[in-house]
Amino acid sequence: MKRILLLGACLLLVGATVVRADDTKDAWEKDCRKCHGAEGKGDTKMGKKLEVKDYSDAAVQAAMKDPEMIKAIKEGIKDKEGKDRMKAYGETYKDDQIKALVAYVRAFKK
Ligand code: HEC
Repeated sequence: MKRILLLGACLLLVGATVVRADDTKDAWEKDCRKCHGAEGKGDTKMGKKLEVKDYSDAAVQAAMKDPEMIKAIKEGIKDKEGKDRMKAYGETYKDDQIKALVAYVRAFKK
């Protein structure tokens, strides 16, 4: 009986993680894809215009630091004239969602 309960608990946990991963994917599709592309390559019209980097490139990934990524998502990125290159998502997403988005970006690395 104990074993069955334990198994049930494990399955629940796995289920919860799957839902969260889906949430992150949905967020990416909704808010990030138009610039960064479905695979993080930045190969979209907006992405090319804004010169977003190719996050499947290992060298690009190595140059990015997690705290800066979190900051960029939270506070956005501005150009020299102070115009938004990427808007701030600190009001849209909670800290743990932002961390999940950083992990999502990291997973684009080939
Ligand atoms: C309007 C276009 C646009 C949208 C939408 C957008 N970004 Fe960006 N993003 C940029 C630009 C431009 C940069 C700076 C160039 C680069 O690093 O590719 C950038 C940079 C980044 C970086 C790298 C920061 C660093 O440390 O160099 C991350 C991480 C990131 N974006 C995540 C996201 C996430 C997550 C979303 C969705 C919630 C998102 N972006 C939506 C345009 C956008």
